[in-house]
Amino acid sequence: MHFFEGVFSHLPTIETHRLILRPLRMQDAADLYAYARDPEVSRHVLWDTHKTLRDSRQFLKAAIRQYRRGLPGSFAITLKPSGRMIGTIGFMWVNIDHKSAEVGYSLNRDFWNQGLMTEALRAVIAFGFDELCLNRIEAQHETDNPASGRVMIHTGMQYEGTMRQRLMNKGRYVDVRQYAILRSDPRK
Ligand SMILES: CC(C)(COP(=O)(O)OP(=O)(O)OC[C@H]1O[C@@H](n2cnc3c(N)ncnc32)[C@H](O)[C@@H]1OP(=O)(O)O)[C@@H](O)C(=O)NCCC(=O)NCCS
Repeated sequence: MHFFEGVFSHLPTIETHRLILRPLRMQDAADLYAYARDPEVSRHVLWDTHKTLRDSRQFLKAAIRQYRRGLPGSFAITLKPSGRMIGTIGFMWVNIDHKSAEVGYSLNRDFWNQGLMTEALRAVIAFGFDELCLNRIEAQHETDNPASGRVMIHTGMQYEGTMRQRLMNKGRYVDVRQYAILRSDPRK
């Protein structure tokens, strides 16, 4: 059993000033589809634009299967007080030996540039250090997606370098900027 296993099969609910982060559920399908069908949202992430509501259901099924297996996964980002699901944020992987992890996120375009992902990422970084006992949390973004880099900087993550053609995304090789925050670094 991994040190984090119980955590991911029972992800907690985390409350921030404007948001509630909670486990994804099948009932999120319509809210997820509302933004996952937007090519501007999916452009810089590794999942494909959802073409039908069925794609969103499949996505949620896979996420819930991850929880059941106790594997690293994502929170739903929901807006207070409506409870509308407007994005996801979570762990792509966790390395137990090195106490390190990578986070990733996406948000409905109607809610960009209000500081919401910065607020969510701060909470997930705190969760990673305090609940998962991590030492290092990484995040990376494509060089032509600078808004994501701004989010990382806002939380205290530090730029560590650019990895050339690190990923193949939607048929093209993309350069990726790597950021990380250590447990000993100041959080912002
Ligand atoms: C990237 C993303 C998560 C940002 O979420 P958000 O809630 O809008 O982020 P915030 O409001 O907390 O911060 C956005 C920052 O980016 C800046 N920004 C927005 N568009 C920008 C652009 N085209 N170029 C440079 N900076 C930009 C904003 O000004 C703000 O920075 P500032 O406060 O220093 O001015 C959101 O745009 C998104 O979901 N994009 C699609 C999916 C995605 O790219 N996910 C990340 C993959 S690495």
